[in-house]
Amino acid sequence: MNEASIKEALAKVVDPALGRDIVAYRIVRTVEVSGEDVLVRIDIPTHGYPQGQRRELVSRVEKACKDAGAKHVTVVPEVVTAFTPPPGDKNLLKGPKNVIAVAAGKGGVGKSTVAVNLAMALMRHGAKVGLLDCDVFGPSIPTMLGTPEVPPQASADSKIIPAMHHGVKVISVGFFVDKGEAVVWRGPMVHRLLQQFLGDVEWGVLDYLVCDLPPGTGDVQLSLSQLIPITGAVMVTTPQEVAIVDVVKGIAMFEKVEIPILGVVENMSYYKCPACGHTDEIFSHGGGKRLAQEINTTFFGDIPIDTRIRFGGDAGVPIVIASPDSENAARFMGLASQVTLKMAEAVLAKPKRASRLPIIK
Ligand SMILES: Nc1ncnc2c1ncn2[C@@H]1O[C@H](COP(=O)(O)OP(=O)(O)OP(=O)(O)O)[C@@H](O)[C@H]1O
Ligand SMILES: [Mg+2]
Repeated sequence: MNEASIKEALAKVVDPALGRDIVAYRIVRTVEVSGEDVLVRIDIPTHGYPQGQRRELVSRVEKACKDAGAKHVTVVPEVVTAFTPPPGDKNLLKGPKNVIAVAAGKGGVGKSTVAVNLAMALMRHGAKVGLLDCDVFGPSIPTMLGTPEVPPQASADSKIIPAMHHGVKVISVGFFVDKGEAVVWRGPMVHRLLQQFLGDVEWGVLDYLVCDLPPGTGDVQLSLSQLIPITGAVMVTTPQEVAIVDVVKGIAMFEKVEIPILGVVENMSYYKCPACGHTDEIFSHGGGKRLAQEINTTFFGDIPIDTRIRFGGDAGVPIVIASPDSENAARFMGLASQVTLKMAEAVLAKPKRASRLPIIK
């Protein structure tokens, strides 16, 4: 038994969450053999990696080592967020490793609700998270989250330090422009605003930055795709036909600007009466799943209409924080897991590039 024979045995282990070989996918960091003892350090590629599968991964590694002749096996897992460093100068953002855009073809389907709860869910999984409200036409994050624990501030060198809400760093266009002013932005102004605003924020190192986009396929989407590297987009839809047609348009636009679609989430899927348990499919049901199948992407699941979700949106405390044990908070936690696993898979499938973050001044 030696390092090479252990590595050979580990190459046959399949990652329970990614479904891939843990050596080729760089889950195995190092193997140390000393006599009959083996120490394996493994990199868990996202904080959203489900706990049950984490235990299963460790036990598969232990078994493979023992089958290869080890008497004592120590497995040391550590979360090391997978990301592909963007080519240096094109990136206005310094610090975020992955950028998730939350988008929809249509207004009012729950983009901001999903963005806020996704960010909070990632934070609850243990990741360092930022939330960026890019809706220059109607920023709603400041209303949704209410008064921050720490307000946004200017640093000594005139950079913007994000506000802090429930442990998530938050920046909104709404912090800097009046509500009445926001609606008159036109294309080139949107680009300049975003350019200045994105370059001026001091995020610090973040595992994930969640971007809430305005509806449709307009100037903000285009500018963002030129200014920052977006790892992927989560498309939100409601189940009815019109919303889905709009998502198809949105997806075509994202493909044009080379932003990968991570998958589709169906919001306001149905209503389950808390008093009698009856389920009512107000906007019909299942369209999101059909859409995901049609365009060959992942269906991340559905989120029902829940007064606590709406209340969270109005009162400043998202359901993932206000009712962490509720069924629908668990849905957002699951969504966060699925989204980050999908991104990690895409990163790990590619050959390794230098995993150095841009220098943060
Ligand atoms: N699953 C849900 N259950 C109940 N209410 C919801 C749900 N999802 C969103 N809402 C409510 O629907 C309204 C619209 O949601 P939200 O603002 O998130 O949509 P949006 O797509 O971001 O809208 P816009 O296009 O204006 O940016 C809000 O009042 C929100 O609280
Ligand atoms: Mg919104």
